Amino acid sequence: MSMRGLILSGLGLALAVTAAAASAATPAAEGKALASSQGCVMCHAAGGMAKPLSSYVGDSDDRLEEAILDPKKALGPATMMPPFQGKLSAAQLAALVAYIKAGGR
Ligand code: HEC
Repeated sequence: MSMRGLILSGLGLALAVTAAAASAATPAAEGKALASSQGCVMCHAAGGMAKPLSSYVGDSDDRLEEAILDPKKALGPATMMPPFQGKLSAAQLAALVAYIKAGGR
């Protein structure tokens, strides 16, 4: 096999492994990863400007979705929480909600 062929088949294997890992992850696990990659935990952490996400475990799905997408509507016009409307897919929003409802840790 040529060097290029070897590299390409190695890449294909790596992609297949990554896809398998992503589909095996639970929505809550995906939500946890998103809470980091979307910057939620920069504010929602012990010592941060907002309470840890674990403190919202009892909120309804609707409340959580609205707070994430349109914080000014859910929390009031003075909130420092940025809107995530248009920044998250429906699946990403559902994963974040699942993560919070699962305890947010
Ligand atoms: C710039 C800081 C900041 C970022 C980033 C941020 N938040 Fe917030 N968030 C806040 C503040 C401030 C509040 C107001 C309530 C509080 O202090 O707990 C809030 C409130 C919330 C609430 C409302 C809870 C309730 O019902 O009272 C939820 C849910 C929430 N955030 C989730 C998230 C998620 C999920 C992300 C990431 C996608 C995120 N936040 C990113 C600052 C932030």
